[in-house]
Amino acid sequence: MGEPVSLGEIQETLLIPLYGRAQDAQRSNSVLHDTKACEFVAAIDYDFAKFRGPSLAGAVLRASIFDEYVRRFLSDHPGGTVIDLGCGLSTRFDRLDNGKVQWFDLDVPDTMALRRKFCSDSNRYTMLDGSLFDDTWWAPVINAGGPVFVLSEAVLLYFTADEVTAQLRTLSAAFPATRLAFDTGGTAMMNTQDRNPVFKAVPARMKWTCDDPRTLEQCGMHLLESRTFATPQHSIRHTWPARYRVGLRALGWAPPVKTYKLNLFMTHGATQGDAAAI
Ligand SMILES: C[S@@+](CC[C@H](N)C(=O)[O-])C[C@H]1O[C@@H](n2cnc3c(N)ncnc32)[C@H](O)[C@@H]1O
Repeated sequence: MGEPVSLGEIQETLLIPLYGRAQDAQRSNSVLHDTKACEFVAAIDYDFAKFRGPSLAGAVLRASIFDEYVRRFLSDHPGGTVIDLGCGLSTRFDRLDNGKVQWFDLDVPDTMALRRKFCSDSNRYTMLDGSLFDDTWWAPVINAGGPVFVLSEAVLLYFTADEVTAQLRTLSAAFPATRLAFDTGGTAMMNTQDRNPVFKAVPARMKWTCDDPRTLEQCGMHLLESRTFATPQHSIRHTWPARYRVGLRALGWAPPVKTYKLNLFMTHGATQGDAAAI
């Protein structure tokens, strides 16, 4: 008998990218080689087989693009601090640990209770219980020192536009001159949710439609990069199997692909030290 799962509606969606990464790890030309995801899937008592369709591969490609944003930050700031807001059962720290980074993974208590069955804190890795909308996680992250990278993958989409933009404004003020990465979905993608096989398998629905991530610059940040599955970084393109590289280039014009954006912003402000005073 595996680990039982008792998760809220949004929390349950963490099992979709987990299963996508586990499936990817079993392929000879795996993108992420996330063998821990296979261990988690094997240990959790859940009907993962109900998840089908392109979103499973999409979760892998999304993780690959976000990995590269973080990798580049760590190459500029090897002793920097990373916080992943709504980490689910992500194993990004294991993939990107450079031996110096201070890493925080935050998620709500029911998700964290599941995560703690598989993962433990260490001297440079800390799990935090809480909501990304709270400010309780700010102090440990700021006190870790060094420039901060704030990441939130496949989480903000589940909240309303008002909730997200208010929080982006708050974070921009609290973390000046900070790289902030998150995904946005346009109307074409949001309108096809009910036809997406993975969303037929869970009750949660995404709420935030954002057709142009540049409009978020009004929240106190500057858009550095905005990628789609058809436009990954050159440095990772070769790690993707040909079926993704060629297929997605051809599909790059398709509205659901074109309007799902993996964004990297830089918040305004002079120095990150200012955040301690807020
Ligand atoms: C689709 S999953 C993404 C998980 C992970 N980022 C990944 O890509 O594998 C959505 C995640 O958002 C988390 N979540 C839901 N509400 C949250 C909140 N208020 N603050 C932080 N995380 C939240 C869920 O627990 C879940 O882990």
